[in-house]
Amino acid sequence: MQGKRILLVIGGGIAAYKSLLLIRLLRAAGAAVTPVLTRAGAEFVTPLSVSALAGEKVYTDLFDLTDEAEMGHIQLSRVADLIVVAPATADLLAKMAQGRADDLASTLLLATDTAVLAAPAMNVRMWSHAATQRNLAQLRLDGVQFVGPDEGEMACGEFGPGRLAEPEAIFAAISRLLDAGPLTGRHILVTSGPTHEPIDPVRYIANRSSGAQGTAIAAALRDLGAAVTFVTGPALVPAPEGVRVVRVETAREMLAAVEAALPADAAVMAAAVADWRVANASGSKMKKDGTGKAPALEFSENPDILASISKGDTRPALVVGFAAETDQVEAHAAAKRLRKGCDWIVANDVSPSTGIMGGAENAVVLISDAGSEAWPRMSKDAVARRLAERIAAALSS
Ligand code: CTP
Repeated sequence: MQGKRILLVIGGGIAAYKSLLLIRLLRAAGAAVTPVLTRAGAEFVTPLSVSALAGEKVYTDLFDLTDEAEMGHIQLSRVADLIVVAPATADLLAKMAQGRADDLASTLLLATDTAVLAAPAMNVRMWSHAATQRNLAQLRLDGVQFVGPDEGEMACGEFGPGRLAEPEAIFAAISRLLDAGPLTGRHILVTSGPTHEPIDPVRYIANRSSGAQGTAIAAALRDLGAAVTFVTGPALVPAPEGVRVVRVETAREMLAAVEAALPADAAVMAAAVADWRVANASGSKMKKDGTGKAPALEFSENPDILASISKGDTRPALVVGFAAETDQVEAHAAAKRLRKGCDWIVANDVSPSTGIMGGAENAVVLISDAGSEAWPRMSKDAVARRLAERIAAALSS
């Protein structure tokens, strides 16, 4: 954070006061803040308080000729290491998504080639409106990163998602984006979630994977600076922010997405891939024929994605598999590592009594050439962080 410059765009919302606290946190950490206040933003916080806290001039109007003489909006948009929009109102997000440039803030957001982090804040109904969600989807595709919004009581008296993330959370997201971690410059592929194998257009075979562990691993790798491609089946938990998400349904789609994402420095295959698919899946909905006879499903084996990547031509330097077992966990997992040809296997006991499948905690054994290492039971986030650190250490050795 030391020596970095943040261009902070303050939109017009009741939460704009929190941006003053954010400025203090950034300055205390050694960052410089160039503030830009939209016309609506100036209705909620004064230019004087913003510039006093930032210790710099506050930019407010595109057509301020003195500013244009000192520093044009194009240049202003380029001098920062990161642009932060907080609060990002529904209107500002809409302008960004459409590429409009009718005031200083929207113009510099259009003119910039710098990374943008937006912290949305708005009424819950505005947040959930299809138009806002459409704009968010577009902005995500454009590479804009998001922090928040939080859920809770709102100034307007309603309850739900739409509250500006707390300044500390915005600060953490900023430092994550700015500080180069040990995996900066590395591309890591993560698979996650279950796969769905169709029986007919409305039915499928699946498993109980929530995608929680794979999602936590992708986030932990991202936090260490990696560029993460996250190939996910239909998971229960939302995909992490700040990673490239590729959504698939079946094992065969997952294999194709994984192959398309290579080359990578490392691959972590946390997906619970269905071993079998229905060979005689029906193109139309299967009907009862009235005789009480169950339909005879036939199965074919799915491709083994982990084995095929481990043995393929574009093999990542480090391939990590998972082994979900219910008995003889370590022995089965060690055999699986050799059979599939991966470097490490993260083994866990998914017997219902452990509460691991779908739960928040995990107890794993890391198996490699060097032997096996039992980690104490901890949260899936903590397992993810520890694994990400081990991956960073392995890639740098
Ligand atoms: N895996 C995969 N493709 C498959 C099946 C599994 O890539 N078709 C990967 C999983 O992502 C995981 C590892 O292989 O990293 C182990 O998965 P698991 O289901 O435990 O192993 P299986 O291959 O099903 O072996 P077994 O039937 O012996 O349990």
